Amino acid sequence: MDATALENEARTAIAAAADADALEELRLRYLGRKSELKLALREVRDRETGMALNAARTAIEEALAGRETELAAAAAEDGEPFDPTLPGEPLRRGSLHLLTQLRRQVEDVFLGMGYEVYDGREVETVWHNYDALNQPEAHPSRDPRDTFYFDESTLLRTHTSPSQIRAMLAQQPPVYLISPGRTYRRDALDATHTPVFHQIEGLAVDRGITLADLRGTIELFVGAIFGPRDVRMRTSFFPFTEPSVEFDVTCYLCEGSGCAVCKHSGWIEMGGAGVVDPNVFEAVGYDPEEWSGFAFGLGLDRIAFLRHGLPDLRLFWDNDLRMTRQF
Ligand code: PHE
Repeated sequence: MDATALENEARTAIAAAADADALEELRLRYLGRKSELKLALREVRDRETGMALNAARTAIEEALAGRETELAAAAAEDGEPFDPTLPGEPLRRGSLHLLTQLRRQVEDVFLGMGYEVYDGREVETVWHNYDALNQPEAHPSRDPRDTFYFDESTLLRTHTSPSQIRAMLAQQPPVYLISPGRTYRRDALDATHTPVFHQIEGLAVDRGITLADLRGTIELFVGAIFGPRDVRMRTSFFPFTEPSVEFDVTCYLCEGSGCAVCKHSGWIEMGGAGVVDPNVFEAVGYDPEEWSGFAFGLGLDRIAFLRHGLPDLRLFWDNDLRMTRQF
């Protein structure tokens, strides 16, 4: 028997096999116990014939395996017939970042009080960021170890207060504005510090403005964002306000009785504020005898962090959908 002729015949048949059943039939026919090849192998007398028959067997086995793979791949590709009438996969609706939501809420509250929203700059001059805000050359926050400088006179703003200066230079009083945005300080990244964070600046300039107006405004704002809460002012110092205060609200969680979030004080710190220092008015060309005002700065990340009891500020930046989808 001619091993090569047999092999060729088998190969042709295998290549033409239309499905697994046909292939199985060919396996029996060419390699089964009663196949011509197996019978011939049993009768082998010389080494050369044995080798030729064995080579043919191997080749047929390989052809069978190859065709089997081909048929399986084709079947997988066909799969289920496409049904265009089935409903599609639902698209999940996205949502705004928690910080964006909160910023817009705060904007809405102040727009309702007749304030405008003013966009400041993130890259600032040292003059706008410090000098015009009455912050002397020796002030520790001007240290390059705390602040990102581009060169001697340009930096990433360390607070939103330079927006006060830009806005006042651009218009005459009265002024009622808030100015939200990113701020930068050289802080190492950890659970409660990020080198990039967000503030909302507030500024009101008019005739006869006092600390009482500041207090009323903050109470209204806090009530709108947190619900009824007490506001407490503590004396503080900022170069651009005199007098200066830091203000706290009763803890959103324990409502003042003391808990882990407010470190058992019952109060949560919201930001700094005060009556605009006359030197700031001088820097922008407003007459401090005629005009008075208040300013405040809120830490937006802090408010969101506390309001939602988040364990780590870095969650705002990770973009982990399991976190962002909750808001
Ligand atoms: N700019 C101050 C800060 O970043 C906050 C502040 C703003 C204080 C306005 C008083 C008035 O800490």
